[in-house]
Amino acid sequence: MTTYAVTGATGGLGAAAVAALRTKGVPASDIVAVVRDAAKAESLAADGVVVRVAPYEDPDALAAALTGVDRLLLVSSPTIGQRTAQHTNVISAAAAAGVAVIAYTSLVNAPDSPLGLADEHRETEALLADFGGDHILLRNGWYWENFLANVEPASANGALLGAAGTGRVAGAARAELGEA
Ligand SMILES: NC(=O)c1ccc[n+]([C@@H]2O[C@H](COP(=O)([O-])OP(=O)(O)OC[C@H]3O[C@@H](n4cnc5c(N)ncnc54)[C@H](OP(=O)(O)O)[C@@H]3O)[C@@H](O)[C@H]2O)c1
Repeated sequence: MTTYAVTGATGGLGAAAVAALRTKGVPASDIVAVVRDAAKAESLAADGVVVRVAPYEDPDALAAALTGVDRLLLVSSPTIGQRTAQHTNVISAAAAAGVAVIAYTSLVNAPDSPLGLADEHRETEALLADFGGDHILLRNGWYWENFLANVEPASANGALLGAAGTGRVAGAARAELGEA
């Protein structure tokens, strides 16, 4: 039996990952949803998923949440500026719990990206390199869902405006990234 844990399991990508595990036949009782608000995880609990409350700021709760976990999907925190500290807490707890593999949702082209967002992803990738177990870097591109807010004005005005110039966007839907 392999026990999987997913952080941010009440968020878009985390929920998609849990759903993909279930679709692939992983028993709900072998999945740990790491959340900060149990009330948001009622449907997961109703399905039989093990729900553990562990905010990224709480090392003790993270240590308890990751006990017995074999493989962890660390969904990057949405809180820019606090990500490295929060991810440090998760990775340290995973190391102490003996987690064998951590997959981390990093950023496309993380090593060279000029985006301001990239620094904390690079710092997290460096932490993972030293964590002691195996790690997988999921250097996700933009979610297609990010563009949905532009659909209505683009339809009304006949132009989809962006800052990419002639560049192209390699996006994917959250459901696809969750499955990956
Ligand atoms: N590739 C892209 O286009 C893109 C775009 C935006 C963000 N991102 C990154 O990808 C991640 C996943 O995207 P998403 O769409 O799934 O984001 P999301 O729906 O906002 O989910 C973020 C998850 O993180 C949880 N969380 C936030 N702060 C926490 C804390 N202090 N302790 C524990 N859990 C905490 C949230 O809990 P609650 O459910 O309780 O709020 C939520 O479940 C984001 O967090 C961000 O790092 C990527």
